[in-house]
Amino acid sequence: MMRFVTTVLIMLVAVVPAYPTPRHEAGIASTQPLATEAGFEILKAGGNAFDAAVAVSAVLAVVEPYSSGLGGGGFWLLQQAGKAQAVMIDGRETAPLKAYEKMYQDKTGKVIPGLSMNGVLAAGIPGEPAALVHIAEKYGRLPLSQSLAPAIRIARKGFAVTQYYKRMARFRLHVLRASKAAAAVFLYRNEVPHEDYIIKQPDLARTLEALAAHGAAGFYQGKVAKRLIAETSKAGGIWSAKDLAAYKIRERKPVTGSWHGYRITSAAPPSSGGVAIIEMLNMLGNDNLRALSGVARKHLLIEVMRRAYRDRAEFLGDPDFVNVPVARLTNKRYARKLRETIDPLHATPSRDLKPAVPPPEGKHTTHFSILDAQGNRVAATLSINYPFGSGFMAAGTGVLLNDEMDDFSAKPGVPNVYGLVGAQANAIAPGKRMLSSMSPTFVESPDRLAILGTPGGSRIITMVLRGIIAATQGLSAQRIVSQRRFHHQYLPDVVQFENGAFTVGEILGLQSMGHKLQQLHYTYGNMQIVILDKARHAVSAASDPRGEGLAKVENIP
Ligand code: GLY
Repeated sequence: MMRFVTTVLIMLVAVVPAYPTPRHEAGIASTQPLATEAGFEILKAGGNAFDAAVAVSAVLAVVEPYSSGLGGGGFWLLQQAGKAQAVMIDGRETAPLKAYEKMYQDKTGKVIPGLSMNGVLAAGIPGEPAALVHIAEKYGRLPLSQSLAPAIRIARKGFAVTQYYKRMARFRLHVLRASKAAAAVFLYRNEVPHEDYIIKQPDLARTLEALAAHGAAGFYQGKVAKRLIAETSKAGGIWSAKDLAAYKIRERKPVTGSWHGYRITSAAPPSSGGVAIIEMLNMLGNDNLRALSGVARKHLLIEVMRRAYRDRAEFLGDPDFVNVPVARLTNKRYARKLRETIDPLHATPSRDLKPAVPPPEGKHTTHFSILDAQGNRVAATLSINYPFGSGFMAAGTGVLLNDEMDDFSAKPGVPNVYGLVGAQANAIAPGKRMLSSMSPTFVESPDRLAILGTPGGSRIITMVLRGIIAATQGLSAQRIVSQRRFHHQYLPDVVQFENGAFTVGEILGLQSMGHKLQQLHYTYGNMQIVILDKARHAVSAASDPRGEGLAKVENIP
């Protein structure tokens, strides 16, 4: 009898949603106003958060070509209203089947500068088109063609160049010029276009239409695929029809943890984000951070960052290829042991930790957060890596290819300038996914839900960590995205910080403990957040003031 009652109780816990959410306003925060508006267009047409996510992703692919696109990939963290578990759609790019470990090294074993960043050899097999089809078909309410319609419309009509676009195009001018098709679309007479110049992408509109009409086959097979293979081959690439036909998204169980009464759900490997975030939160343990002085608090945060990034360097990679010890790294006892190594009065030099080689830093990326009126939610971080990816566009497709291959370790097993040996976990192998820092995240208690994430390469993880802490402390959406940032990633052994992140007293205090501080002359990140206050059924949203995004909350009739 007792066993029967226990079984029923376990079954009830498993099926009853953890925190049910009644109807409320919907919120969307994204890095581009046109993308946020497209999301609302779809919600108002009867779509749910997942349809809106397809629309927002596709519009970002059109209007933010320097951040993400059909030629790239990403992670979409989804949670259906009333379900206790979230799912991560892994649409990360894969290494082509002809890729090999030393493909970016010369005969003497030296890494050839730029080869994994610029041009056709830098591109992994895109995952975003497959992910959008999967999300629409499995989780959406509307036909894919309806959710892709805003992106198709904007690709045809065009969008206006902004200051930010100009900055990105200037930064990648040489690679855009190297691809005739990319230069024709993204430049004006081979130069950075002026502000308000209209960028039209009829080829991309046609590719989106093929996706809308034929699903994944519209991209990975048929005319678009043929063109992708023909153009990449002509330019010296190694993609084959088999690569495209074989591409599959993965549904993965996100990484979860708990902190101060909140449940944290974040990206699983091949992202290093979720594991590092939970490991850092576990190291912080039950400390009341607000009770600590500014110097003590920031010292502690820097030291947990240092240790989690060291582990990231040694252990993280594609879980389909290597055994990533997720359970061990996210175990609270393991974190307590690491915490015991933190000296409260002195910085630990990174060279005193067990050696590991940090993976390369990803560069550009985008993020959006969505909550619909029923409580369905999405946090999605998408990328083509460097601004404008590889800069290579396959003529006739409008598809700008990523340079995500740069996120693999180009030289594992060989000592680097620090004398450290690169981790095999993130070595290049055919069909393998490269390690990522993208960390779309949910933070939830019975009272509050935050949906957040940001672009920013390896700094994504520490931005999201501090976003989570701020969300659990009850800060407003606007204050969370506006926080001044600081970051430590084990190597190089420096604390990078934005102007205003530390007071003068904190700078002197941290320096006297042995921290090397480096003030940045720029800001970084572009955090997007949606928050639900469950008691008041009140939704708020904010877009990082550093970017040009739009956060909006609206009642959906
Ligand atoms: N390419 C950026 C990242 O995946 O972290």
